[in-house]
Amino acid sequence: MANPITAVIQCEEKLSCGINMPKDPDNLTDLEKKHLPIITAPPTVKKGDCFEVAVEVGKLLQHPNEPAHYINFIDLYADHTYLARMDLTSQRTCPTMKICLILDHIHEKLRAFAHCNIHGVWEGQVKIEVTQ
Ligand SMILES: [Fe+2]
Repeated sequence: MANPITAVIQCEEKLSCGINMPKDPDNLTDLEKKHLPIITAPPTVKKGDCFEVAVEVGKLLQHPNEPAHYINFIDLYADHTYLARMDLTSQRTCPTMKICLILDHIHEKLRAFAHCNIHGVWEGQVKIEVTQ
């Protein structure tokens, strides 16, 4: 029988388990630069107003985009509230989501999750202030 503690440790060491985030945001590795979703959004938005958001994967260092290795979806959340998903195919799409949002109550941050078919899920965040 597998030791559950050993199983957790082994899982935490694998990129395909859990959610990957930069270990040192001021000193990103090449792997982190390739996978980190970069969110571009206004720092302040008015409650109920439409605004544009872009999520780009590979903006800092291009990620492969071939059938054997590519970003196959991007999810977007406001804090823990699900907003959108974009499913992607390799070669004919770029790992970028551009979307218009309307937030109806206070949130602290936008969170994007990008899934690489080899290197798992990566999370990027940006702070956002929703005003009345
Ligand atoms: Fe990857």
